[in-house]
Amino acid sequence: MSEPIIVSAADLHSHAHEIFRRYRPLTPLLKRDDGIYIAIRARDVEQLLTDPRTRQMETEIAETRGVVDGPLRDFLQYTMVLSNGIAHRQRRLPLARAFAHKFISDLRPRVRAIAEELIDARYETGEMDFIADFANWLPARVICHILGVPESDIPEFTRCVYSLSRAFSSTFTKEDVPDMQHAAGDLSAYVDDLLMDRRQRPREDFLTSYTLALDTSEKLSNVEAVVQMMTILLGGSDTTRSALAIQASLLLENRDQWEAVCGDPALIPAAVFECLRYEPFVGSVPRVTLDDIALDGWSLPRGQILSLSTLAAMRDPDVYSEPDRFDIRRSDLPRRHLVFGNGVHRCLGAALAKLELEEGLAALTRRLPSLELDGNPLVVRGGSGIRTVQGLRVRWACARA
Ligand code: HEM
Repeated sequence: MSEPIIVSAADLHSHAHEIFRRYRPLTPLLKRDDGIYIAIRARDVEQLLTDPRTRQMETEIAETRGVVDGPLRDFLQYTMVLSNGIAHRQRRLPLARAFAHKFISDLRPRVRAIAEELIDARYETGEMDFIADFANWLPARVICHILGVPESDIPEFTRCVYSLSRAFSSTFTKEDVPDMQHAAGDLSAYVDDLLMDRRQRPREDFLTSYTLALDTSEKLSNVEAVVQMMTILLGGSDTTRSALAIQASLLLENRDQWEAVCGDPALIPAAVFECLRYEPFVGSVPRVTLDDIALDGWSLPRGQILSLSTLAAMRDPDVYSEPDRFDIRRSDLPRRHLVFGNGVHRCLGAALAKLELEEGLAALTRRLPSLELDGNPLVVRGGSGIRTVQGLRVRWACARA
């Protein structure tokens, strides 16, 4: 069996696509210089996502970064994202119904109205900071609407969420930990207060029914309940905000495709899917190997942290023709998008994310067809987990009354 090629985490952070493109034909497996194995071929990534010889990573990476106690440790230890077996089921189940496609699709008019309100608020200025003025707000306002949280709390919880989301990037360092501990502590106190308030003053909202269901079943401790709500606030506000920005930047860089969507809104779902494939904001999911696994003559030993690179898989030429071409009309995208993972941990918010990305794009193309980049396209960095984006300014010609 051959030893995997070693790549540096720093190089992956800045040149992930180039590295995967270079090595994918040569090997199914890379090893990062911090010891993490990376599966990079679509067939393997898809298969390993549901392979019983792997399990979800728990706190293994956090421990190597010295996260052994405190609110950050609680978050990583109790979130459904990083749990397995019955603990995972008990943490996910009370939320599964609220985020099921059937219920989420009823929110479409509300999501549309929020997207249009955000555009209206900036329309006359003819320009905006896309992330600060639009992408930050759309998913955060929608998650407030779903949970029953006041919109006036958005600055408080998003400040914590944007810091804490680094916990799902395997490249956070020991130096990042104090700030993340702080964010986890503040967010946990905020959510704890919300749940306490609904216990004392029940209302007609999701948080009240969530606390009632938990108190009746007694399957989750208070810290577990708080952490699941933190996870929802994080998933609900950070990932889609960056995906919205990536989507706008990609389409504006490919003007003909932006104009095609403006002329034919039926192209919106396919445009959303292609943006998620071409430049995903979540680049991989973490697993631990429970057995030795052989991949095309390469050896993946048991007991190792394994990153399943959806980023690499979604540009695998064995599955996508001309994978480095951005094309909203491509016909080779699977119905269940790999960007949301697969198996028992498949993204709980997939239907919500798609809805927000579709309605965000629909509002922008309808109200601002002359939208254009005001400066450079968005820079997306990161080779695994939650990636990072830098600023995006846009402008448009506003038709004054
Ligand atoms: C474009 C946006 C999004 C992307 C690309 C994305 C991606 C993912 C991926 C890949 C996973 C699987 C993790 C794994 O297998 O280890 C996941 C899980 C999860 N996502 Fe998302 N997500 C997005 C939006 C959202 C939203 C809007 C929510 C809000 C509810 C959300 C909540 C969650 C939760 C709670 C899990 C954990 C599910 C479990 O472990 O059972 N996500 N997401």
